[in-house]
Amino acid sequence: MITRRALLKTAAIAGASGFGLAAIGRIGGWAATTPEPVVLRTAKIQANLMDVGQTRDVLTYGNAGMPPVIRMKKGEPFAARLVNAIDDPTTIHWHGIRLPNKMDGVPFLVQPYVYTGDHFDYAFTPPDAGTFWYHPHCNTLEQMGHGLTGVIVVENPNDPKFDAEFVLNLRDWRLGDDAQFIDQFRPRDAARTGTYGTVRTANWLDQPQYDAPAGGLVRLRVAITDVTRIYAFRVDGAEADVIALDGNPVPQRFAPDALLIGPGQRLELAVRMPDNEGALVTLRDVRGTKPKALATLRAVGASLKRDSRDLAPLEANPVPEVDLTTAQHISLALSATAENVPSDSICGSLGYSFWAINKVPWPGDTPDPTAPLAELKLGKSYVIDMENLTPQSHPMHLHGMSFKVLSSSTRPVQPLISDTYLIQPNEKVSLGFVADNPGDWLLHCHIIEHQKSGMTSYVRVV
Ligand code: C2O
Ligand code: CU
Repeated sequence: MITRRALLKTAAIAGASGFGLAAIGRIGGWAATTPEPVVLRTAKIQANLMDVGQTRDVLTYGNAGMPPVIRMKKGEPFAARLVNAIDDPTTIHWHGIRLPNKMDGVPFLVQPYVYTGDHFDYAFTPPDAGTFWYHPHCNTLEQMGHGLTGVIVVENPNDPKFDAEFVLNLRDWRLGDDAQFIDQFRPRDAARTGTYGTVRTANWLDQPQYDAPAGGLVRLRVAITDVTRIYAFRVDGAEADVIALDGNPVPQRFAPDALLIGPGQRLELAVRMPDNEGALVTLRDVRGTKPKALATLRAVGASLKRDSRDLAPLEANPVPEVDLTTAQHISLALSATAENVPSDSICGSLGYSFWAINKVPWPGDTPDPTAPLAELKLGKSYVIDMENLTPQSHPMHLHGMSFKVLSSSTRPVQPLISDTYLIQPNEKVSLGFVADNPGDWLLHCHIIEHQKSGMTSYVRVV
């Protein structure tokens, strides 16, 4: 016999776990318009990151190894169900994808936490083709630091034809000699460049090697998903051109000669493989005192004799053009701060405020955040005039809308379309965009220690 009491209890459990009837009904209703959702289940696993043994407490989506590379199609609906099976609330942010605010994954600002045992359904249609990535937006230093960073490829059927494609997820790990996690940060480093990892990987491997057709054209998609490290890229052993940055084609291709790319950014290279079987092509990080070979490609087979000049340009994404005659300017100053704001964020707090945007250090994710940096009118053009008053570089990321790099005070810039700009010390840069996406959109440094210790704000589009 089902008693009323038992029914109420079942209803309460269904409600708490999020598997209520309403939710099931909605999924059923999607069938006609929405594809089968990709299930992204958070998990705590062991992984092989160092020779000395398995690392415990690694986090991923799925059952084993690196989070999957998610493939979407430009202009086609995508759906994913985040199922949270770790002992910490989480969300997913789809970095660089222009989507509805409700799908943006920022706790409190746009969605509730997804608690342990609960789930959340994401659904959107990516308007832009390119390389993007996904990660939690809750307790990010711990969750991303322990593994929750994955790459997204949004395909475009009109893309030029390559002979092979490889995706590289570049990131570090803070591990001790016993291959176990050590403290994710040191306060004195958080107040400077951020705390570097001790073990460096590409696709969770030390310097992987992939086979590619000799004389062929390879599309290499690289995402920096590390929480701290800025890279300077160089390719040895082959002719290579940058064809896209941060999910958008570059106006003019160029060789990556120590090209600086920060956390959160993506790089796409067209590599013309050498003609000789066995020849190696190496992607290197040449920044700082310890340059590192990140990955190699080995030429195999008889030469395909391709010519990189035959590669048609990538199609531009449908990002609206900023109108500079009517654009309003928003000043934004990045600085250090001495003011310590107490943070009651349950999404993890470092316990320090080191940084500020327009002198306001972000207090963390709370139900009652600070006022937006600016209120923008839907459909109007804006220019963010951003100034870096610190001696460090900051990869500044805007959610929900793509901007165009208009000018820099320190260097010539291409008019790149992007979601993340790596601003150098003493640089002033102007970033133009159309406020065409309603909602609250975060703007923060993607060095996660900076983000979590004050260098975060948001704009409101109404
Ligand atoms: Cu990839 Cu708010 O971040
Ligand atoms: Cu920063």
